[in-house]
Order: sequence, then structure tokens, then C-alpha cells
Amino acid sequence: MFKLIQCAENTYYLECYCNTGVYDLGNGEVILIDSCDHKKSVKDLDKALEERGWRVRTIINTHCHVDHIMGNKFFKEKYGCKIYSSRVQSALTEEPAVELNFYFNGIFPRFNNEAFFEMIKAPCEIFSDDVLPEGFETMLLQGHCIDHLAVKTPDDVWFVGDCVLAEETFNSYKIPFFGNINKSIETAELLPSLLKGKLFVPSHSRPCEDIAPLAKINAGRLSSLKDYFYNICENKSLEEILAFADGDLELHLNEDKFAKIGYTVRAIMQALIEDGKIAARLEESRLVYKKL
Ligand SMILES: [Fe+2]
Repeated sequence: MFKLIQCAENTYYLECYCNTGVYDLGNGEVILIDSCDHKKSVKDLDKALEERGWRVRTIINTHCHVDHIMGNKFFKEKYGCKIYSSRVQSALTEEPAVELNFYFNGIFPRFNNEAFFEMIKAPCEIFSDDVLPEGFETMLLQGHCIDHLAVKTPDDVWFVGDCVLAEETFNSYKIPFFGNINKSIETAELLPSLLKGKLFVPSHSRPCEDIAPLAKINAGRLSSLKDYFYNICENKSLEEILAFADGDLELHLNEDKFAKIGYTVRAIMQALIEDGKIAARLEESRLVYKKL
């Protein structure tokens, strides 16, 4: 069972795959930051709320990825709470088919399955500062996805979502999901000066009092991935690049990983194009990358 951990006077998080923030408003209501990753963690969080007599007033989603919004519909139906995210992410949270089709179209029928979407989708409104009580702070952080939202509670605890990932995630996935590589590196480099707080809770890493070491790891690992793909991409198509990396980095690709890692590798190629280091050329009906 996933436990609700108190990490400051009124700030808690459910220690699950997607650390889900809970802020006690003191009147029997709580604000959630994200809404868990799985039906099991949603159930455990709701049990912890019931034990304390808490009702969900508001959910703030850091972004639309399914491992952050799994409880949206459940909590909306149970408590009638409002759900918010940034302008772009609120649209994608409300219609998860859009986001998932970016990665899985042509690969997985189950991600074009209306029943799956119906299980998770709930109305999501555009966040504005007046949604949260005084003392909260938010910041848009680019890179992992467009307009990813970080939230600070009045206890000075930042919930930073997926703007940085755990070193273990880089070690196990080798190429974890990032939608815009150059913006992710810039965000990681600026993070220690952008966010001031007593505690930082990443969604998929242990909470820490200093975000700088994790941010440095993220910037370094993403820069290394750019260097790696620059070195192997000459005259190769995306599928040839992925096939080479699969053997070389022991990615153990399957259809699911092909979709997710392929998305990040395209983002890495885009970053190299932005840097002026490579170009994409169509040759004999193949899109291949060329060093400049
Ligand atoms: Fe994510």
C-alpha cells in the first residue's frame, strides 16, 4: 500500500510511482498536485484522504501524461472537484487521445481505444493564479512537455513534476521521455535559480532539499545523449538510428519502447538541427540525417 507522507506542516505526498502532492487547507479540504499514476495508487490516496476526513477541492495537473492524471475522473466524480492545468496541458488532459496519438498511432490499437480514454478523461480548465489560495506559487517550465506546470505550496515545498527525472530513470530507460531537449537542458540549468524552496518533490524521484544536484545530472545526461546521437546519425534514417542504438545501448526495444524512445530520439535530432549541427534530408524517399 502506498503511504501518505507528511513533508511539511500542511504538505503531504503519496509516495507512489508519481509522487502526488496533497495540501491540507485546514477546513477538511485538500488540493492535489497531480492525481496518481494507476488505479491502485488512486485507491490508496483516496483511502488516506477518507481516514483524515478530507475532501478534494482542486486538482492541479503538472502536465497531461497519463501517469499524472489517472485519478482525475475518479476524484472529479467523487468530490466534484475542479481540475486545472496550463493552457496547452489542460486541452491535452481533457482529451488524452491527442497526446497518445503523437506516440502510438500506427503501433498500438489499445491507445486508440475509446474505453481507455473514457476511464481517465475529465474536464480540465485553464489554470490562473486566482485558482489557488494565497501562498501558493506556480511556474511554467518548458522541456519535458509544452507549458509544464510546477507548483509550490505555502510550506515552501515545490512539486516539480517531470521537469527533471531521477538518475535511476536515466540508468534504466537510457533515453527517458523529453519532448524538447534544448529547452529541457535550459530548464535544468536554470532550475536552482528559478525555484527557491525548502523541499523539492519530483514526480519520479526522492524529495530533496537541494534540487541543484539532480538538475545538473539531467542537464549532463541530456547533453551526453545529444553527443551520442550526433556521433551515430550520419546518413541514417530514424529507424536505422534506433536500430543501431538498440544494439549499442541495449535498449531492448519493443513496440512500446519504440514509440516512446522514438519520440525522444526525434526530439534529440530536432535539438541537433536547432544547434545547426545536422540537417534532415529526403533521399530516395528516405528521411536521413546529415552532419553539417
Ligand atoms: Fe511526464
